[in-house]
Amino acid sequence: MSDLNTAQNSASDVKAESRIFPPPAAFAANATISGMDAYHAMCKEAETDYEGFWAKLARENLHWHKPFETVLDETDAPFYKWFEDGLMNVSYNCLDVNLQKGNGDKVAVIFEADGGEVTKVTYKELHHKVCQFANGLKSLGITKGDRVVIYMPMSVEGVVAMQACARIGATHSVVFGGFSAKSLHERIVDVGAVAVITADEQVRGGKHLPLKVIVDEALTLGDCEKVKNVVIYKRTGGAINLTAGRDLWMHDLVANQSDVCEPEWVSAEHPLFILYTSGSTGKPKGVQHSSGGYLLWAILTMKWTFDIKPSDVFWCTADIGWVTGHTYITYGPLAVGATEIVFEGIPTFPNAGRFWNMVEKHKATIFYTAPTAIRSLIKAADADANVHPAKFDLSSLRLLGSVGEPINPEAWMWYYNNIGRGNCPIVDTFWQTETGGHMMTPLPGATPLVPGSCTLPLPGIMSAIVDETGHDLPNGQGGILVVKRPWPAMIRTIWGDPERFKKGYFPEEFGGKIYLAGDGAIRNKDTGYFTITGRIDDVLNVSGHRMGTMEIESALVAHPLVAEAAVVGKPDDTTGEAICAFVVLKRSRPIGDEAKQIATELRNWVAKEIGPIAKPKEIRFGDNLPKTRSGKIMRRLLRVLAKGETITQDVSTLENPAILDQLKEAQ
Ligand code: PRX
Repeated sequence: MSDLNTAQNSASDVKAESRIFPPPAAFAANATISGMDAYHAMCKEAETDYEGFWAKLARENLHWHKPFETVLDETDAPFYKWFEDGLMNVSYNCLDVNLQKGNGDKVAVIFEADGGEVTKVTYKELHHKVCQFANGLKSLGITKGDRVVIYMPMSVEGVVAMQACARIGATHSVVFGGFSAKSLHERIVDVGAVAVITADEQVRGGKHLPLKVIVDEALTLGDCEKVKNVVIYKRTGGAINLTAGRDLWMHDLVANQSDVCEPEWVSAEHPLFILYTSGSTGKPKGVQHSSGGYLLWAILTMKWTFDIKPSDVFWCTADIGWVTGHTYITYGPLAVGATEIVFEGIPTFPNAGRFWNMVEKHKATIFYTAPTAIRSLIKAADADANVHPAKFDLSSLRLLGSVGEPINPEAWMWYYNNIGRGNCPIVDTFWQTETGGHMMTPLPGATPLVPGSCTLPLPGIMSAIVDETGHDLPNGQGGILVVKRPWPAMIRTIWGDPERFKKGYFPEEFGGKIYLAGDGAIRNKDTGYFTITGRIDDVLNVSGHRMGTMEIESALVAHPLVAEAAVVGKPDDTTGEAICAFVVLKRSRPIGDEAKQIATELRNWVAKEIGPIAKPKEIRFGDNLPKTRSGKIMRRLLRVLAKGETITQDVSTLENPAILDQLKEAQ
């Protein structure tokens, strides 16, 4: 790191990505990992004795009911196993361990609802709620290994539901509340759920949105015979139908349950959860995570990346429907005994000062959000001085984080100066649903920061950049991001599809044992810092949400009017990437008002098929799509058209070059 210059942040040129922000001295002095020497020493330790490094951390950081003897089992690679003969329970590690440590009366969750009502729950109360609900689930006959789908709003009850599943060894699969009945159905069937936990409604930005109605619809779509019960949390009291013998209220289920529930001791390899994410085919994949290795990494990254201290008030703004909400709301913060904020709603309601108002009100010390939210709040602050962060007391903050998509240097600088007031490090955390927790991120008390770079891998994470044949590339040359050694929190398999797991993440071309992240990256020549250059597969990142282009295409062609569709991403100032769909209808190409009207219909159709997050921002109609003579759609050209740029590439292999002119204009 000796090559790094240490410039101050006084310059106004926000494009100067080469500027470097060293950790504030006071922060570094008290940090869990203080200074780059400490970081390098940990990396060295991992390199010298990989298994010993992880074993020590697993013994120190987790409560084991029966200690493990085997650390890493590679015999069935890439189906790696960690600490498999050890017995533990994730909920016990998050709750009981805290009661034993004297944290019983400490606030675990500060929940703020969409309307601003605040509920505080201590560790003792959370333990009580989780045990009662776990007993309730048991009374329904749900046992270890059963899968339970959770389709809930952001709430204390959502966290309780996940923890209760973990307590009894049931594997949860949380489905984001914005997914449609069809998407929910697909996941219920694929995972083979025996129960669905939901709410009557959810509330977002003052609007009541149905959840139970969507569950009812999903369960009528067929093949759901395994689902014996639907448990409903009463969020709003909105009208719902109860199916006798199947549906019951959460409050009725727990009413007479004991608040003592002996945890189910499971192997560290027991699947804690399955979370669906988009890939390059039309079908979402169920990413299966373990118990022991996963929780270990949730704990370590809370300590290393977030430098969590007993006095912190930690706030991750994610939804429990995404992996960030799993690791940095439901599990990580609780396992380290933190006080955390959980919020319901959206950052722009009742106004775009919601986040800053909540930081001030609850004295948040660590704030973790997505670049999309930052970018939209920059716009809002520019437009309305009343919601500008300068209007709020943000002095409680000591650390900021970013997750889910690349953060552009402009947004980074605004975040640093306006939210962090120039003295809070920003941890730009690169990771994925599959990785379980952070992979590459600055350490706030050690790593000099460079806007837009996730800097370096965490100790024990063997990231590298390779070419298409799997050979290492030198710094300065962009390539494919890989991880060369298994790590405890890694994906274990794709639920029900081990072949897809092997082929997708550990391809034979790379020797079958190296994890392929699905992203491109480049390392800085001097510093070795990593910058993510974006997905190398057909996956888009819209507002930090992963969307498969094929998923959206399949939804579009399912519409009776659509003959063919190709979906590409185009850069967007707020959402990072936006969805642009090129569509050929079965009838003639529409123009003018008719085109607008059909585009609206198709957008709503996609929202119904997948969920509102998958709605294309733009739809262009053509008589055909640009294809090679062998009939392959040339997406490369569509990307250029979507951006509004002129095609300079060779189009001689194109069957129908004239079509490019037609598709050039946004309609
Ligand atoms: O492309 C990378 C991008 O988000 C993808 C993972 O998406 P998902 O599984 O939904 O998990 C999101 C929350 C961890 C990655 O393959 N991504 C995530 N974090 C960053 C990022 N790209 C750049 N910088 C990041 N910090």
